Amino acid sequence: MIPEIERVLFTEEQIAQRIREVAREISAKYQGRELKLIGILKGSIFFLTALAREIDIPVKFDFLAISSFSSQKGAPGVVRIAKDLDESIEGEDVLLIEDIVDTGFTTRYLLQNLAGRAPNSLAICTLLDRTTQRIVQVPVEFRCFEIDDRFVVGFGLDYKQLYRNLSYVAILKLNEPRR
Ligand code: IMP
Ligand code: MG
Repeated sequence: MIPEIERVLFTEEQIAQRIREVAREISAKYQGRELKLIGILKGSIFFLTALAREIDIPVKFDFLAISSFSSQKGAPGVVRIAKDLDESIEGEDVLLIEDIVDTGFTTRYLLQNLAGRAPNSLAICTLLDRTTQRIVQVPVEFRCFEIDDRFVVGFGLDYKQLYRNLSYVAILKLNEPRR
């Protein structure tokens, strides 16, 4: 373990186990159909690839990158698409893959944007869900873990772009406010 880590919240094995369970739920729910996984760069890449390998129905992927700005410290960020999907999602069953749903602003923006492209269905799957910080309500259909207010890194999640490559999810030894 690296020195900047205070505590491991979810080990590599626990994450793999939950991903298998969630992949089973997803495979059952979309049985007989084809699924488009949309990964939000960069936080969701490890989760998306691990999940996709455990899903046993046909899947395709596409990726979106977003940037969020906050005009005032602590104010909700304005979300903008920095890299759009490569392909249309019209008529497809779409699962939005997130690293974490926190206030819900990012997810709500993405849901509204993608809903406007006429998919057959649209749902959210997140590795982590921090429901205590929710400001706007979003329907999270699949989640691996619920977490509390401490800032976490690893398995795709970053602090200043670092720590994404940790194989576990951990609490960092810093106590700055989030973002
Ligand atoms: P929301 O719009 O507040 O739901 O923010 C979601 C985004 O904030 C996530 O996609 C992450 O990029 C970032 N984020 C929120 N909490 C954490 C955390 O604990 N660690 C790392 N990134 C986080
Ligand atoms: Mg981030």
